Amino acid sequence: MTADERVYYADYLRLEQLLTAQQPVAGEAGRDAHDELLFIIVHQAYELWFKQVLWELDGVLERFAPDHVDDRDLSRCVDWLERIVAIQKVLVQQLDVLETMTPLDFMDFRDLLTPSSGFQSVQFRLIENRLGLATDTRLSINDRAYTTVLSDEHARTVRAAEQAPTLLERVDAWLARTPFTAVDEFDFWREYRDTVVEQLDRDRAAIRTDDRLSEADRQRQLATQDATRATFESLFDRDAYEELRERGERRLSHEAFVAALMITLYGHEPAMQVPRRLLTALTDIDEGFALWRHRHALMVHRMIGGRVGTGGTSGHDYLRDAAVTHRVFTDLFNLSTFALPRHRLPDLPDDVRRRMGFVHSGGSGRSTDDG
Ligand code: HEM
Repeated sequence: MTADERVYYADYLRLEQLLTAQQPVAGEAGRDAHDELLFIIVHQAYELWFKQVLWELDGVLERFAPDHVDDRDLSRCVDWLERIVAIQKVLVQQLDVLETMTPLDFMDFRDLLTPSSGFQSVQFRLIENRLGLATDTRLSINDRAYTTVLSDEHARTVRAAEQAPTLLERVDAWLARTPFTAVDEFDFWREYRDTVVEQLDRDRAAIRTDDRLSEADRQRQLATQDATRATFESLFDRDAYEELRERGERRLSHEAFVAALMITLYGHEPAMQVPRRLLTALTDIDEGFALWRHRHALMVHRMIGGRVGTGGTSGHDYLRDAAVTHRVFTDLFNLSTFALPRHRLPDLPDDVRRRMGFVHSGGSGRSTDDG
């Protein structure tokens, strides 16, 4: 387009293509299915939002690719991740519109859709793979790969995305490089472990000497405390941690998990604020997709009851299970298991605190630029 050509609204937005892209099949089959237009438009609106989500994810993945993530880039990435969270709210709410269609309205045209299904949404699969949903943790459907329902071209695209770097991996590498877990004499990991062990020992002694407890209650409390200690041991002991990773119960590397824990515990220190927002956004995104999945599963239950899906899965049961298991950033949720109340946190030495301050706040401040 030349500079003197004026942009025209309908051309810029390609409205001709967009508004002629709804082609209900019921009419062609001689059926009166008033709600098919709604069904198509809602799906198309989802696909547009999926496109935007992929755009934001690709922007973040690109900026996290180098060994050094600039602070300004980090802040923009957080903005984009938070935008995804805002979009997810629309994605969940949009189901309200579709639910104005009754199961009988849907029956006017549902049989004409087989074997197509949202299960074939390539963009949804790309989002899952970009985030880091591991292929071997996907629920198996009739022992067939989820890509078998796709055209050859689409299957190739989705399989390539399985091999591409994921947000989980890139965030892991970035966390593992965090400079603050060991600054000069301050070793966060050692301090944290010492604090926890001391606290556990103190709690145990208190249970042992509390003469208001019956013997049965004492044993119960000691057993609970043993379980708590074992949970912390699974973090302190690298081998135990790796075993959890092998079982898929942890996905982050140990270094990354420790760094994420420190960011969570000291998230209000100026240099930690943007990293903390990043972790919060990733947690929100995981929760957002889990919510969408649950909500979609419930909608499917009320629309088709216990029938199998047009895409060949068990329908509602598959979707409900996927909502629970198809998660990516569960480690960030599990950080809370290891959180300490603020008044028990190891104190940061003054020089470390200063280095975590903003430059203009008077310290010799340094930012997370090393990350
Ligand atoms: C009446 C409305 C809907 C019904 C009855 C329905 C039903 C289903 C069913 C039964 C499945 C499981 C796969 C299968 O066997 O077909 C599924 C999967 C899926 N649907 Fe829907 N759906 C509806 C609306 C939507 C909408 C509006 C979207 C938005 C794009 C969507 C996206 C998906 C996606 C992405 C999957 C794959 C989920 C996964 O594998 O984890 N669905 N749907």
